[in-house]
Amino acid sequence: MTKITTAIVPVAGLGTRLLPTTKAVPKELLPLGGLPTLHYIADELAQVGVEKIILVSSESKSQIARYFEPDEALANSLREKNKSEILKTFWSESDHSDIEFEIVIQHEQLGLGHAVLCAEQAAAGQPVIVALGDCVMGLGGQSKILANMVQAFHEQSSDIVIAFEPVPKEKVSRYGIASPADPANVASVFPLADLVEKPTIEQAPSNLAVAARYILAPTIFEWLKKIPKGKDGELQLTDAMRAMIANGSPAFGVRFPDGDQRYDVGNIESYTDAFIKFALSHPTLRDVALNAFSQANTQSNDS
Ligand code: G1P
Repeated sequence: MTKITTAIVPVAGLGTRLLPTTKAVPKELLPLGGLPTLHYIADELAQVGVEKIILVSSESKSQIARYFEPDEALANSLREKNKSEILKTFWSESDHSDIEFEIVIQHEQLGLGHAVLCAEQAAAGQPVIVALGDCVMGLGGQSKILANMVQAFHEQSSDIVIAFEPVPKEKVSRYGIASPADPANVASVFPLADLVEKPTIEQAPSNLAVAARYILAPTIFEWLKKIPKGKDGELQLTDAMRAMIANGSPAFGVRFPDGDQRYDVGNIESYTDAFIKFALSHPTLRDVALNAFSQANTQSNDS
């Protein structure tokens, strides 16, 4: 059994749906409940045993690497001002600060498949977790889904394991959609027959959407080099996985545990939803959020 110790986190996207903010601030650093999105993701990866995170970034997003680097001058200044409590929140002070980060630059935005392919050398022939940098799994990043996926990858001797969550039918065209091997019997871990990237409602084989986490055997890189460009003229990770499945690679879907979900900071509506829910589940921000709601309610009743 090969331990999975490497993760690829694509973070080079332009953040078009969050402009104008993303002109200057990468969406992956937008805060939820006190920490940037990417801090939760790095923690999630460390918790399942990842030792190396490959950030597939762009030249214009240097803030991302800086976030994880130690800053001795800032740390000293906080210590001098007796603000060491703040320092404890820094990545460099966390239990996982020994994780290695490698930055790979994606010079052109040619799709998720292309972003993953950019990390081929850095992945050094290992199986990889691919974690999209704009989605946190579970409130406070506390989902068990990635641990369940790692278990499925080993127990089922799979080449592909993908996280799935149900979405309303009218939204299937925004996601990669599962075609389960046995549509009448979709358990929490289920065999996958196929996938379709962003189908119409009519084409969609289910309402189970690919949810930002994948575990992939190293053969994924070979397939990414073989497949043609797909949807939107981009190199699609979904298409490379489809080709692997068609060639006999065992593939499984893992569904979120009950009550658990993915939080997406990639557009303003889902970011607002995540921001409020993270605040409501945060020990010190909860009261702030509840007070804000109650004041807003009173004001709207008065007007
Ligand atoms: C990507 C994938 C899609 C997946 C989605 C959410 O799409 O191509 O299959 O469902 O992420 O994980 P994007 O949101 O980059 O358009």
